[in-house]
Amino acid sequence: MSSQILPYESVNGSTTAAPQDFQVARRMGFLPPQMPLPRLPAEWEEWEATLDAATSQRFKAAEQLAALDGPQKFVEEEKASAWRKLVDKMPVLSIDNIKGCERELRRAHLVLTFMVQFYAHTTPSTESITIPRSLTVPLLRVSRELNHAPFVTYSDHDLHNWSFKDPRGQDAIPMSDNIQSQLTLSGTTDEAGMYLVGLRMELKGAEALELLGRSTKEIEAGNNIDVDRITTHLTQTTKVIQELKSILMTTKELVRPEIFFNDIRPWLVGADADKWGRKWVWGGKEEVENSEQMLTKVSSPTAGQSPLIPTLDAYLGVEEDDSKRSFLDRVRGYMDRQHEEYLQSLRLRKKIIRSFVQGIAKERGTNAPVVVAYNAAVQAMKSLRDAHLVIVTLYIIIPSRKMAKTSEKSARVSSVDISPASGKTEDCSHEGSSGTNNEHAGEAAPMVDQVPELLKILKGFRDQTGQTCVE
Ligand code: HEM
Repeated sequence: MSSQILPYESVNGSTTAAPQDFQVARRMGFLPPQMPLPRLPAEWEEWEATLDAATSQRFKAAEQLAALDGPQKFVEEEKASAWRKLVDKMPVLSIDNIKGCERELRRAHLVLTFMVQFYAHTTPSTESITIPRSLTVPLLRVSRELNHAPFVTYSDHDLHNWSFKDPRGQDAIPMSDNIQSQLTLSGTTDEAGMYLVGLRMELKGAEALELLGRSTKEIEAGNNIDVDRITTHLTQTTKVIQELKSILMTTKELVRPEIFFNDIRPWLVGADADKWGRKWVWGGKEEVENSEQMLTKVSSPTAGQSPLIPTLDAYLGVEEDDSKRSFLDRVRGYMDRQHEEYLQSLRLRKKIIRSFVQGIAKERGTNAPVVVAYNAAVQAMKSLRDAHLVIVTLYIIIPSRKMAKTSEKSARVSSVDISPASGKTEDCSHEGSSGTNNEHAGEAAPMVDQVPELLKILKGFRDQTGQTCVE
């Protein structure tokens, strides 16, 4: 069994906590310094084999099945039902032999959470969802060991889900062209592409963390601060953030919006957002201490759970209003514990770089090179958020509006179908209706309803970033 992952570097007498104390590696940022384990040891082969059986069969989620009917739907449902029966019969495997072994625990978390998503989302819409003991109990135990949410998170599908494209490069630091994801839920290249964008941003972002970390340390140390060096670091940080934006925009080349919306998104829906309003039941949860509390963290994963952007914000001293604070307080519950502690330590510290730059602006005016360099970095963050808004519009807002329109049309057709002339008189709007068209109508409306709020929040974060410039 491999030993626990140690921080990239130890800290020598540093007065303040350093990134390395929080498993934030110099050239890897929030990615683990070693390639995530591709498979668990033989003792847990049953989990791996059962997951393989799910991924190889390319199941359709219940939400996708709503668009099918007749024999094709029946075949899909039977296929997934046979797999769920296998999972029901699986024994509850002990995790005792991987306690303290971070790589194994992370792989176990990924494998178990992916199986939970397959299990829940292939359950037909007319049935209740009960995650069997064989998944719930080890998942809760692994999550307790890791101090991590017992649900699929960005940490699972991005940070701890990569391998080298070319295995000969394994000893090197991963590069953006030699990295790929290990597992996907939908089996689409688009999902792999989506995770790749996150991985590449994490790798690139590590450079900015290093530059901002060094500047913060120098300012904090306080004697003989080299303002030119801080200026250079900020200028280099701006370049990195601009590259992050370019990487983010490659999403348009790697992920087709309709595949994201129709084939990937349904697998990533959280237990608190079931399309049919079902409450997920977790079989055997009472066997694990503190499970009720843990099972409050079951929301859909998003890259908003990455610590990267909030950490850059915190280093640059971007203001947090109540909305941003409550967003961050929610998503930090889904981050790796050490990363969350690192982010918190930065959020709680005074805005070191910003205060320093404000001091220079007072002394020498806002044309001082360090002030100009700082403002450029802040503007680059704002521009990154502009780009993210474009992505959210393309991948969520436009498709959800399209879906709502289709549903409205379908609902109109179905209301013709159920006219008294057709001899049917039931009210088809009730929950649990198995009519395909109405299933769509029930889901699309709330999603579209949430769009203005989503846009308001994201635009608010963007505007607040712009207001951080020192004037
Ligand atoms: C297809 C690609 C993407 C889509 C559809 C998407 C969608 C979203 C959505 C819906 C939210 C709001 C989350 C919530 O309310 O819980 C969000 C937030 C966020 N996302 Fe993305 N996202 C994508 C890619 C990325 C990537 C690659 C990153 C960078 C690692 C990222 C970083 C963020 C951040 C930092 C937030 C928090 C809001 C902010 O700080 O401005 N997203 N995203």
